[in-house]
Amino acid sequence: MIDWTAIKDLHANKKLEEVIGKWFGVDIFYTDKHGNVHSNIFDKDHEFVNHFFKVQLHMPHGKDFLAEDIQTGLEKVKNADGQCFYFDSYFPHVRMLASKIVVDGEFQGAVFAYPYVTDQATTAEVQEIVDKMVSCGATEVDASSACDHLKKLAVHEFEYLRELIGLVAQEISTVTDEVSKRESRIHDLNAQLGNKYRYHNIIGKSKAMQSVYHLLTKVSNSEATILIQGENGTGKEMVAKAIHYNSPRKDAVFLAVNCSAFNDNLLDSELFGHVKGAFTGAIKDKKGFFEAANGGTLFLDEIGDMTLAMQVKLLRVLQEGTFLPVGATQARKVNVRVVAATNKPLKEMIQKGEFREDLYYRINVINVALPALRERREDIPVLMDHFLDKKCAEMGYTLKTWAKKTLEKMIDFKWPGNVRQLQNEVERLVVLAGDDKTITPDLLSSVITDAVDGPAKVGNLKGINTNGGLKAALEELEAYMIKEGLKRCNYNKSRLSKELGISRAGLIMKVDKYGLDKRNKAANE
Ligand SMILES: Nc1ncnc2c1ncn2[C@@H]1O[C@H](COP(=O)(O)OP(=O)(O)OP(=O)(O)O)[C@@H](O)[C@H]1O
Ligand SMILES: [Mg+2]
Repeated sequence: MIDWTAIKDLHANKKLEEVIGKWFGVDIFYTDKHGNVHSNIFDKDHEFVNHFFKVQLHMPHGKDFLAEDIQTGLEKVKNADGQCFYFDSYFPHVRMLASKIVVDGEFQGAVFAYPYVTDQATTAEVQEIVDKMVSCGATEVDASSACDHLKKLAVHEFEYLRELIGLVAQEISTVTDEVSKRESRIHDLNAQLGNKYRYHNIIGKSKAMQSVYHLLTKVSNSEATILIQGENGTGKEMVAKAIHYNSPRKDAVFLAVNCSAFNDNLLDSELFGHVKGAFTGAIKDKKGFFEAANGGTLFLDEIGDMTLAMQVKLLRVLQEGTFLPVGATQARKVNVRVVAATNKPLKEMIQKGEFREDLYYRINVINVALPALRERREDIPVLMDHFLDKKCAEMGYTLKTWAKKTLEKMIDFKWPGNVRQLQNEVERLVVLAGDDKTITPDLLSSVITDAVDGPAKVGNLKGINTNGGLKAALEELEAYMIKEGLKRCNYNKSRLSKELGISRAGLIMKVDKYGLDKRNKAANE
């Protein structure tokens, strides 16, 4: 139930562990309720905070002693009234502190802090520890140096440590709780899917999309003209195709023409064709889209961009089924179903005299309003899986999976109206993941990470990498403050040095060190 790998990387905990290590000289590790250790303490090159711990794990049976202590700790802390329990480890006077992890009211494991002694420990007692280690196979030198590193904690220090370890354990519980709630939400959503999550190639199982499908089923069989309205990238063209391929005309052609892509004259000739000699360059008769789509469906995209003159011609063909190719004298007749789309507010355009009211009523016999993605957030996971499937197949990869964090961030991102943006992000992630089977959150584009986590900010330290120790973290913070400061002060170094309370020369040195000079401005943005 607990994702231990994710827990290990938990930012807040890393920070706490670092501080605890520095102040109290203890190592921290986690175990599940069975005593399996989920920290890196057994890694070959693990850097221990406390040398004693290292010596112990390298001596014969050192790990067994630890395992015994872990069992004792788990048993005790599980039944303890409080959050924490401390006890003498296998080595007399050397203490171990355990803090329980409880998720959903169930005991799941513990956070351990080890090793330390109290400030009451006498020289004789420390000698006792050395002797015990030697009797267990450590060399005299190792045992003494190990014990030299044991920190003697005063009562108030110990109290503080106990509180902090409690915090680490509670953070694990809270995070796990949250993740499992989200997972069950996703699970519920997926469970409701059934067959109804798609119509033709249109994906979405939200209520809003269900009613779109319902409408489409009803109108596909009719011959009515349809107007599809929706923001950019909401799937207008997909809907137009779905209407065609579910209609009796499905075996005839589906043609799409983007009305905004041509000027008036060209659009005229594209839509209605021209006869030989109609204008310079018209060296032979050319069929227009209306004629080419005869018997099928013509999709007029971006109809809001058509000029008033063209609107008149269009109205005529819609009303009478006849049209006049450019330069022709005789009208031609066609049987075409028109589906139009726009992202423009046609009604407002009518008020302003930019769109003909009669044409509006003629094309808007049936109106399909496509909801923006932000109005149907429950479709995000389904769409993500759909695009993932498609892209993996296209690239010849076996199906990849979403890391929990990636999924969460994508779901939490406030996608605007655009499904295309979501699709692009998924496709980008598949490419970036390469041969990796899991799509990890570090691959997400910064638009998403920044929007969900907030960009690195002074004050909240989010986004500052604390892996490399305090020095690296401080340098990162310093570089960040200077970078932001330079932008704020318009690269006026005297002003910024005053603001930051350092000398101008000092600032210049740091600007050099971090490569934040004005010359690199573009790269720093
Ligand atoms: N409901 C959906 N299910 C699956 N894919 C979708 C859906 N909606 C949009 N898409 C995808 O998003 C992209 C944009 O869709 P489409 O071109 O139909 O939108 P549009 O509204 O015509 O966009 P534009 O306003 O930019 O012309 C397409 O690549 C399509 O695959
Ligand atoms: Mg479109």
